[in-house]
Amino acid sequence: MKHIDIKKVLDNGNDYLSGDLTVCGWVRTARDSKAVAFIELNDGTCLKNLQLIVDKDKINADVLKDAMAVGTSIKAVGQLVVSERNGYEVQVKEMEVLGVCPSDFPLQKKRHTVEFLRTIPHLRVRTRYFESVFAVRSELAQAIHKYFHINGYKYVHAPIITGSDCEGAGEMFRVTTHDWKTEFQTEEEYYANDFFAKKAGLTVSAQLEGEMAAMGLGKIYTFGPTFRAEHSNTTRHAAEFWHIEPEVCFAEIDDIIEIAEDFIKFIIKEVMANCPDELQFFNQWVEKGLIDKLNNVVANDFGRLTYTEAVEILKNCGKEFKYPVEWGVGLQTEHEKYLADEYLGKPVFIVDYPADIKSFYMKQNADGKTVAATDLLVPGLGEIIGGSEREWDMEKLLSAMQKRNMPTEGYEEYLDTRKYGSVPHSGFGLGFDRMLMYITGVQNIRDTLMFPRTVGSL
Ligand code: 4AD
Ligand code: MG
Repeated sequence: MKHIDIKKVLDNGNDYLSGDLTVCGWVRTARDSKAVAFIELNDGTCLKNLQLIVDKDKINADVLKDAMAVGTSIKAVGQLVVSERNGYEVQVKEMEVLGVCPSDFPLQKKRHTVEFLRTIPHLRVRTRYFESVFAVRSELAQAIHKYFHINGYKYVHAPIITGSDCEGAGEMFRVTTHDWKTEFQTEEEYYANDFFAKKAGLTVSAQLEGEMAAMGLGKIYTFGPTFRAEHSNTTRHAAEFWHIEPEVCFAEIDDIIEIAEDFIKFIIKEVMANCPDELQFFNQWVEKGLIDKLNNVVANDFGRLTYTEAVEILKNCGKEFKYPVEWGVGLQTEHEKYLADEYLGKPVFIVDYPADIKSFYMKQNADGKTVAATDLLVPGLGEIIGGSEREWDMEKLLSAMQKRNMPTEGYEEYLDTRKYGSVPHSGFGLGFDRMLMYITGVQNIRDTLMFPRTVGSL
């Protein structure tokens, strides 16, 4: 269907002033006066609507009646004119209703709660809020690829179905073709007869494959869906989320922290440059001060604290926490929020966590107690990045696995990377959907995904 995107019309209207043009879209609002009707048309290519001015004498009354219903899809042909208020508008000469929209269309009202909109994920993309969310989501993904591309990283596609649980946390979704009813007596027998002839699951992280790829390609990143069967019913956890995992050879912990900060600033700047209308929308309706916040993030250095310092700060801050802090315990969201929101008021890297609360693959520090791991905490949200330098000494890696009662079976290929020309290397994982929350101010991860998957909800 030959037509012009509304974004093009509004951005480069002067190119379309001579002759007629055709636009298509959905009716966002319509109002009527004696001789003319005004229709606000949106086609999803930009947040702004294009105003159509319909001379009632020129358009069939039945067609116009249908076209005035919110949600109707129409095609309009007319003359583009300059308008003081709207930039450009169209004086309609012909109009066709593509799909009528009956009055039970749930988006009649101007404003709905996000909770209500969550019940209609298939329709909420037609609101300004979600049009903005998904526009920024798309630009953010492009910005991420751009950063790695211009910095010489190779984009690697890691498998989604996997046999190993990278984080060792037992949060894998199982992949099977077996019926629920089986005659198998033992677990081994059950899996031996399954599709892959072994236990398989959905990936919780592409890191281990990423490390193997980096050990030949030098600098790589993965960017794909990640699945975790965590029973965390929070505003920041999804069972299916998108994950960016760079892995860099010849990089130690300080190098990867520097890369992470540079990366976060770059992608924020890109989104600010490419989504000004959307960020303005979020700044006005979702998080007051959002644009100032983002400007501050790109202009200032991130903070840095060791885990040990963070624990001391939390113990001496005079605040009552639900979960008491002691050296050796994992930091809870309330602790992370205190450190990033109240104590520093900016993003902060926490480094050198106790080995016992972190994964087996992290580089063991000389103190014998901590590992070269880092989490990036941001105000309002907590952890958005988890990363580390990797243990590249075979003996130390094996002993960390033994300590956790992990079998070496299934990790032979991973261990080979330490056997054949091992090198210092580091990487991190950024939760894409959490990053989107941070850039937009959206408070619930369920409102960053088209069809969010969370515990108890598919
Ligand atoms: O801290 P995590 O578990 O680290 C890893 O998976 C490492 N293998 C990454 C690496 O070094 N390559 O997860 C990384 C990030 C978290 O900081 C968080 O932003 C996000 O992934 N994340 C989730 N996002 C949404 N829902 C969940 N259930 C998430 N779990 C982790
Ligand atoms: Mg983590």
